[in-house]
Amino acid sequence: MTNKYMYFIANWKMFGDLRTLNTLNKVIIFTKKIKKNKFKLIYCPPSTLICPLAKTLKKTSIEVGAQNCHESENYGPYTGQINSKMLKSVGAKYVILGHSENRLSGESDKLINLKITAAIKAGLKVIFCIGESLSEKRKKVTKKILAKQIKNGLNKIKNKKRILIAYEPFWAIGSGLIPKESELFETIDYIKSKARGSKVLYGGSVNLKNINNLKNINNLDGFLIGGASQVSNNFIDIIKKTYN
Ligand code: PGA
Repeated sequence: MTNKYMYFIANWKMFGDLRTLNTLNKVIIFTKKIKKNKFKLIYCPPSTLICPLAKTLKKTSIEVGAQNCHESENYGPYTGQINSKMLKSVGAKYVILGHSENRLSGESDKLINLKITAAIKAGLKVIFCIGESLSEKRKKVTKKILAKQIKNGLNKIKNKKRILIAYEPFWAIGSGLIPKESELFETIDYIKSKARGSKVLYGGSVNLKNINNLKNINNLDGFLIGGASQVSNNFIDIIKKTYN
């Protein structure tokens, strides 16, 4: 059980359409019943839904984020890309950067750093994902990998308060596996020592069952939730269980 102010961030990945937004009514009603300032709820839908979702959530405490952005601060000839200024203009307040699904398709620490820099300049807050692969975990180089991702990703970023770090081990994403409680506590502590001033969240297979264990890890500031955030009842129950 916790009384801490926690972040619950929904990462919808490439799921959802306009009809999906109706399912959020339950979440809106739920948040209206809760005492203010207990937690922060952020939805990161696909780009196509940022604008309608921001309108739907206008009179609520729930905020909207994007799942990636281009590194250029300016408009430009980049087919298929969206920059942080554009995201901000349609109501996004956050952007997820450095997600492993994008790192695996070639995003380098350097590129992620450029994206973070541009996003902060545009006035967005950043959900900065870091994490080790299974082979790195087996080789026991997790801390080394995380230190490198933090050092390079946050190079020249002064205001760490605008950064929420999401520790997401690659092997835990969508797999049903999570780190051992003691290991996770130690890793989160380590991340906090390397990125002073940033909140640190956990992501990777957070669900209705394992939330009972995860909520006991008292140095965590919240969760980045993929699959389990797509069904409103599950998402609400995860939040409720965190505080029970
Ligand atoms: P998952 O995804 O909860 O479905 O494992 C988390 C994420 O990729 O952010």
